[in-house]
Amino acid sequence: MSGTEQKQPSANYNSRVEGLRDLSPDERRAKIAGIVGLTSEQSDLLRGVEALPLHIADGMIENVIGNFELPMGVASNFTINGRDYLIPMVVEEPSVIAAASYMARIARGCGGFTTSSSQPIMRAQVQLTGLTDPFGARAKLLGARDEIVEKANEQDKLLVSLGGGCQDIEVHIFEDTPAGPMVVLHLLVDVRDAMGANTVNTMAEAVAPMVETITGGKVRMRILSNLADRRLARARVELTPQALATKDFTGEEMIDGILEACALAIVDPYRAATHNKGIMNGIDPVVVATGNDWRAIEAGAHAWAAQSGRYTSLSRWERDGSGNLVGTLELPMAMGLVGGATKTHPAARAVLDILQVKSAQELAEVTTAVGLAQNMAALRALATEGIQRGHMALHARNIAILAGATGEQISQIASEMAQAKDVRVDRANEILSRM
Ligand code: MEV
Repeated sequence: MSGTEQKQPSANYNSRVEGLRDLSPDERRAKIAGIVGLTSEQSDLLRGVEALPLHIADGMIENVIGNFELPMGVASNFTINGRDYLIPMVVEEPSVIAAASYMARIARGCGGFTTSSSQPIMRAQVQLTGLTDPFGARAKLLGARDEIVEKANEQDKLLVSLGGGCQDIEVHIFEDTPAGPMVVLHLLVDVRDAMGANTVNTMAEAVAPMVETITGGKVRMRILSNLADRRLARARVELTPQALATKDFTGEEMIDGILEACALAIVDPYRAATHNKGIMNGIDPVVVATGNDWRAIEAGAHAWAAQSGRYTSLSRWERDGSGNLVGTLELPMAMGLVGGATKTHPAARAVLDILQVKSAQELAEVTTAVGLAQNMAALRALATEGIQRGHMALHARNIAILAGATGEQISQIASEMAQAKDVRVDRANEILSRM
């Protein structure tokens, strides 16, 4: 955090913020900062203007020529494991934040989300080629387990002192690949609060010579696996039919619709891809806002969704014995709190000051709950009136702004266009000039 005086924001805030959407961006930010207890410096970073100085950006990637801005909003109403969270989300798509906040509000009335996670264990792969005795090599590697783990842990004494480090190995055999038999050594590394890519890659490179000596094979690749199937986060929500009912649909009808929508995503990869995209609509914006690697999360999520051999839904929606709708989501979540852009990007650090999470596992769990909320929002709309009405209403606001509308004009022009189901800039211009 920049600045000298460091105020510790409060994690005991209330995420139910009335009228947030009716405020201007500056008013909203001030409101959120007030609720969470941010300093004016922290709040300014969230505004985004000059939040990432060019010299820091220049150190982050190569050939920097500038910064690229995206809107950051805050999803409200989330209660997760009995604690309230305001969730910063960076995303270009309208409806995402409104939908998450709306579903979180319904969930809140039913006790909110509950989450859990595995230990933060990442995998690194060390590929061995040139072996004619893959099973013999496997036996030798497993016999040298302690030696390999020790060598890996020599690379990161700090991680080991924090309770992490390489814990175990696995050896996978591929008897028949286009390039002959292969043996792949996996290092299973508890990376604690890091995303862990650098740590496990360093370990994989360090053990490679030893692995060659032990097996007589040739090591080729030494790299993490983004299928972080030992680093899972889970979220669960339970909703009563009453909480789901609208003026047009009973709760039971809503649940039937959501179950049928989920059923198709379970059996049909065409639908599963879209269904899972809806989940990632919730997850990616939090991953981006916290400076985490969204490509890693995406790769892990989709590989996990295909684990059974057929690409399927990441979430499950069921009806429990009491007639309530139960939604669950479990997926690999390699999110870190230390290192990478999470550490270097000042706005990402301010985002973490809003979230007030104590560990990378908590961050992963919160993000998973947002994914589940987003999925529920999409299914609820798709199972009933469809998404276009809500989507167009919000999209219309963007179009009104593009046409030059300000203040009250935005809502007026947006609602007129949405009602007429004619959302275009020239139409917005026409209404604006009439005004
Ligand atoms: C749009 O960004 C996401 C949805 O297509 C997700 C879904 O279909 O479940 C609405």
